[in-house]
Amino acid sequence: MAFEGVRKAVVPAAGLGTRFLPATKATPKEMLPVVDKPAIQYVVEEAVAAGLDDILFVTGRSKRPLEDHFDRNYELEQVLESKNDLERLALVRESSDLARIHYVRQGDPLGLGHAVLVARHHVGHEPFAVLLGDDLIDTRDPILNRMIAIRNEFGGSVLCLMQVPRETISLYGCVSVEGEPVDGVVTVTDLVEKPDVVSAPSDLAIIGRYILDPAVFAVLKETAPGRGGEIQLTDALRVLATMPPDQGGGVRGVVFDGRRYDTGDKLSYLQAVITLASEREDIGPELKDWLHNFCQREIAGD
Ligand code: G1P
Repeated sequence: MAFEGVRKAVVPAAGLGTRFLPATKATPKEMLPVVDKPAIQYVVEEAVAAGLDDILFVTGRSKRPLEDHFDRNYELEQVLESKNDLERLALVRESSDLARIHYVRQGDPLGLGHAVLVARHHVGHEPFAVLLGDDLIDTRDPILNRMIAIRNEFGGSVLCLMQVPRETISLYGCVSVEGEPVDGVVTVTDLVEKPDVVSAPSDLAIIGRYILDPAVFAVLKETAPGRGGEIQLTDALRVLATMPPDQGGGVRGVVFDGRRYDTGDKLSYLQAVITLASEREDIGPELKDWLHNFCQREIAGD
C-alpha cells in the first residue's frame, strides 16, 4: 500500500515563554538567539532540509517579531545593498526565502494537543510533521527524513524517542514499546505524559519531532484535558496506538541517539548556545580558549 507523502510541517509557537521572563515579555521565546540566529530558524531549516517547505506556525499574542523575521525587511536590505554588504544581505534574505510560511492563531492556549488541532484546516487529510521549537536537532544528525521514510513504509504515526536518565523522565512524554527494535524502529503500545519517575513505564522519552497521521485530528477533538489541565498530544497518540492501521492508527518510534539541544529552560539554553558557538569556525577557537581559562580560574577560586 502506498501512503501519501509528507509535505507540511506544523510548528507550535504560542507558548508564553514564562521561563525566560523578562526577556520574553515583548519578544517571543522562539526568537531568542542561539549564537546569532533565532532558535526557531534552526527548526524551520531542519524542516526544509527534510523536504517540508510548507510550514504552519501556530502562534499566539505578541508573536509579531516571529512573523517579521520570516518576512522581507526592505529597509534593512536597502541599507545593506547601498553599502554593498552582500554577506549580511544574504543573511537577512535567507530567513524570508526559506519556505512557504503560514500562520494560524491558537486563541486560547489549551496545550500542545490543542495547538495541533488548530492546524487541521491547513493540513487537511495528509500526514504531516510537528516540530517543537524547544528541541534543536544537530544538522549533522538529521532524523526527520528517517521518520518520514518509516511513515511511508508503515503508515500511522512516528515518534522520535530518546533514552534519557530515568530521573528526568517526568519532564517528557514517555512510551511503552513492544518487542525489540528492528533497525532502530519500535512499535509503541502505550504513552503517558510526564509520568512520575517511579511509575514511568520506560526511560524512552518523546522528543519534539512527530510525523502524524491526519486521524489525529478526530482523536484530538475528543481528547479531554489531561496533565496540567491541557489537551495533550501524548493522550491522543495513546488512542492512535490502539487504533487499526486502516483507520490511521499505529504508532512507531525511532530511537534517536544523535545530538539534541534543549532550549526550553535557562540552563540547557545556555549549554546549547555554548556548545554550538564553540563549534563555529569564526568564534569557536577563541570561545574555547576563554572557556578553558574561565574554568581554570573558577576551579582555582580566583
Ligand atoms: C512536550 C510534550 C512531551 C514531549 C516534550 C518534548 O512537552 O508534551 O510529551 O516529551 O514536548 O520536548 P513540553 O516540553 O512542551 O512541556
